[in-house]
Amino acid sequence: MSTQPNFPITRLRRLRKTAALRDMFRETSLSAADFIYPLFIVEGENVKKEISSMPDQYQLSIDNVLRECEELTKLNVNSVILFGIPNEKDEVGTGAYADDGIIQKATRAIKERFPEMIVVTDVCLCEYTSHGHCGVVENGYVDNDKTLELLAKEAVSHAQSGADIIAPSDMMDGRIGAIRTALDGNGFSDTPIMAYSAKYSSGFYGPFREAAESTPQFGDRKTYQMDFGNSDEAMREIVLDIQEGADIVMVKPALSYLDVIRRAKDNFNIPICAYNVSGEYSMVKAAARNGWLDGEKVTMEVLTSIKRAGADVIITYFAKEAAALLRK
Ligand code: PBG
Repeated sequence: MSTQPNFPITRLRRLRKTAALRDMFRETSLSAADFIYPLFIVEGENVKKEISSMPDQYQLSIDNVLRECEELTKLNVNSVILFGIPNEKDEVGTGAYADDGIIQKATRAIKERFPEMIVVTDVCLCEYTSHGHCGVVENGYVDNDKTLELLAKEAVSHAQSGADIIAPSDMMDGRIGAIRTALDGNGFSDTPIMAYSAKYSSGFYGPFREAAESTPQFGDRKTYQMDFGNSDEAMREIVLDIQEGADIVMVKPALSYLDVIRRAKDNFNIPICAYNVSGEYSMVKAAARNGWLDGEKVTMEVLTSIKRAGADVIITYFAKEAAALLRK
């Protein structure tokens, strides 16, 4: 395309003149079907405990999760991703793959009441381990291959409980292949995997760790999650996950990584999910509460930017609010 200046022949403001024109020529639009809503699930009954660093987000017991699902259905948000907070944690995260684990029970309950709801389960050990790391710790280091066995067990257990999509977020090498093999070997060859492929070691997960009670008790996650300076490496992670059988790949967080989302979209012909993470949510909420910006406007702008960058689906704590705004 020629880059010669051609004003006054060309005037881009012509198509911005009225709301109807702007609507007609808007390149990116959101729909409630784009969203996956995260839920934090605890044992007990009638629990609804607000997460202090995430306004309007709660730890919920299963009865309240079902109420939440009813609300979501009314808003046309038909997909949730589940995070479990078990009563007991141990060295090897037993609660993650127990048949009566919190996610297993919650998945069965949701699928029974709302069979149409897409239930995505986060497969990871950090919420279930006493040390808060995403795998088996040996001599202060997360052992990759021992962790794979437990993740595979967890994924099969979620599928047996009725999970529609398995979403591993641990960042071990080879986990997609290990999980695919385990699912296939147990009769779940039709259960898709949404891989947290390019998951960065990020300060934006802070509020989530309060919500999921999963802060590492020593060190950090830098030996398995990606360094935020890297983009070529993200492409390698995505290639490996596709080769190992991922059906959907994810970039996480979203906002500081829009370039990575775009690069993935341009390079790979596969559905892309972006995770608009807890810290990204809390920043907007905090500023809005202070009257520093218009929360509703910024929410729609943020979500649209993630989709414009190339995400096909977005995991977001804003799902309910955004779906309600889309109805207006
Ligand atoms: C578990 C997991 C994390 C998030 C999703 N799955 C936390 C982490 O890796 O420490 C973060 C999500 C968010 O911040 O909203 N591994």
